[in-house]
Amino acid sequence: MISIGNISKAYAATPVLKNCSFTVDKGEVVVICGPSGSGKSTLIQCVNGLESIQSGQVRIGEISVHDPHTNLSMLRRKVGMVFQHFELFPHLTVLGNLCLAQRKVLGRSREHATDRALELLARVGLADQAYKYPSQLSGGQQQRVAIARALSLDPEVMLFDEPTSALDPEMVGEVLEVMVALARDGMTMIVVTHEMGFARMVADWIVFMDAGEIVEKSRVEQFFSCPESHRAKAFLASITRSHPTQDRAERPVSAQEETVHTSQHASSGNRGAGTNQDPSGLVF
Ligand SMILES: Nc1ncnc2c1ncn2[C@@H]1O[C@H](COP(=O)(O)OP(=O)(O)OP(=O)(O)O)[C@@H](O)[C@H]1O
Ligand SMILES: [Mg+2]
Repeated sequence: MISIGNISKAYAATPVLKNCSFTVDKGEVVVICGPSGSGKSTLIQCVNGLESIQSGQVRIGEISVHDPHTNLSMLRRKVGMVFQHFELFPHLTVLGNLCLAQRKVLGRSREHATDRALELLARVGLADQAYKYPSQLSGGQQQRVAIARALSLDPEVMLFDEPTSALDPEMVGEVLEVMVALARDGMTMIVVTHEMGFARMVADWIVFMDAGEIVEKSRVEQFFSCPESHRAKAFLASITRSHPTQDRAERPVSAQEETVHTSQHASSGNRGAGTNQDPSGLVF
């Protein structure tokens, strides 16, 4: 369903993605992990065209994302994106945030958009928060609203860029729970995260990046039991070192285990903050 073929990108003379390739089949969950600055955010933003590439290609279904003739707005209806910092519209209520793109992009009636929004808010456990403003919600609640908003356009693919790394630890679990449920419902997902417990629960594949390269793409069991590359081994060891009391093999898997906050570095990209541009790049 998603095919990333030999993509490369540089900022000025500095390469940030070097010949990166992998595929994601329909219904699969791919987790991208790796050290800070390895290119994870840049790569995921190339998938829906928020970042340009210098060579290679990205296909979603039959659509070539970086073809200049591609209507990116049409494409992004199919690809929901959730960021580290929620990116909700502060002047709109939760319901307003969920209805705006449905009405402007999909042309849904107020009634239809509201019904869908309330359905999605119930799905993320926020049915009673519809009339609050983002500033009246906790970080975990805001991120669940952001997920519901991305789902409101009925996407075929969901992209997540460190959706829990800006949250207080006690709020990480509630967001991961929503993501686990989404994965189990069969959503095709690419998730940049260091939540290795989440990865072990729902990922089909792990893509491990370092210094702009995909060093390893492994089945999740293989990655955790026997990573191929020394760089992945070192990365896993650093995670284990930061949680020395946790025994990877024996403890029960919970989505929230092994939280690693490697960076608060906000992702780059050309998404606009203007009133007529959705954070995932939809223009309306
Ligand atoms: N707009 C930009 N201009 C120049 N360099 C950039 C820009 N955006 C990112 N970079 C550089 O590209 C590299 C990859 O950045 P990216 O944000 O994709 O890494 P990351 O793996 O997501 O890191 P983190 O885990 O800290 O979020 C880094 O060296 C970063 O400094
Ligand atoms: Mg990043």
